[in-house]
Amino acid sequence: MVHVSNHPLLRHKLTVLRDTTTKHRQFREVVSEMAKLLCYEATADLEYEEVPVTTPMGQATGHRLLADIGLVPILRAGLGMVEGMLEMIPGCQVWHLGLYRDEKTLRPVSYYNKLPVEPTVNLCLILDPMLATGGSAIAAVDVLKKWGVTHIKYVGLIGAPEGIEALSTTHPDVPIYLAAIDERLNDIGFIVPGLGDAGDRQFGTG
Ligand code: PRP
Repeated sequence: MVHVSNHPLLRHKLTVLRDTTTKHRQFREVVSEMAKLLCYEATADLEYEEVPVTTPMGQATGHRLLADIGLVPILRAGLGMVEGMLEMIPGCQVWHLGLYRDEKTLRPVSYYNKLPVEPTVNLCLILDPMLATGGSAIAAVDVLKKWGVTHIKYVGLIGAPEGIEALSTTHPDVPIYLAAIDERLNDIGFIVPGLGDAGDRQFGTG
C-alpha cells in the first residue's frame, strides 16, 4: 500500500528541497520538518489502549500507545529524518543501518548494522528520503525481517515508480509513506525531477 500525502505543508516544503538554490542548512531543517509531518501520516493507524487519567477537574478516559517503535534510518540520508520523528515520538529506539549504492551496479552495499541480538521493538519505521531503484529499502526490510521484526513501514520523501514497484512487489506487507511520486529514474539511477542527492545536499558534500 502506497500512501502519498497531499498535505499543503509537505508540498510547500518539498518544493524548497527541490530548489537548487536551497543551501544545506535550510535543506536539513526542512527534511526534519517534513519528517514530523510524515510521522503524523505514518502513525495514524497505531494501536492504543484506554487508560484512566485524572485531570485538575476530574476523571477522563485517556489513551496510551501500545507499539514499541524502532526508527531505522538508512545512512546517510535517513539521518536527517531522525530528529523530527523523535520530537513526535520521543520514546523510540534508533537502529542505524549503513547502506550505500554501488555507483556502477546500483546495488546496495551494507557497511554498518548496529542491531541488538533480538528485536526489542514491535514496529520499525525505515527512514530514507529517496526510494530510487528500491534496492536499499528492500535490503533494509530483509535485514529487519531476518532479525525478527514483523511490522515494518517505509517512510520517505520522494519515490520513483520503479522503486515503489520493486519494494511493494518484494515486500507487499510493508506500507510506503511518501510526500511525492516523481516521474522516473535517469540512467544513473537518480530520481527525476527529484531533488538531487539527499545525502550530499543535507551534509554539504555535493
Ligand atoms: C541514496 C538514498 C537511498 C538510496 C536510494 O543513498 O539515500 O539510501 O540512495 O537508492 P535505491 O532505492 O536505488 O537503493 P546513497 O547511496 O546516495 O548514500 P548516502 O545516503 O550515504 O548519500
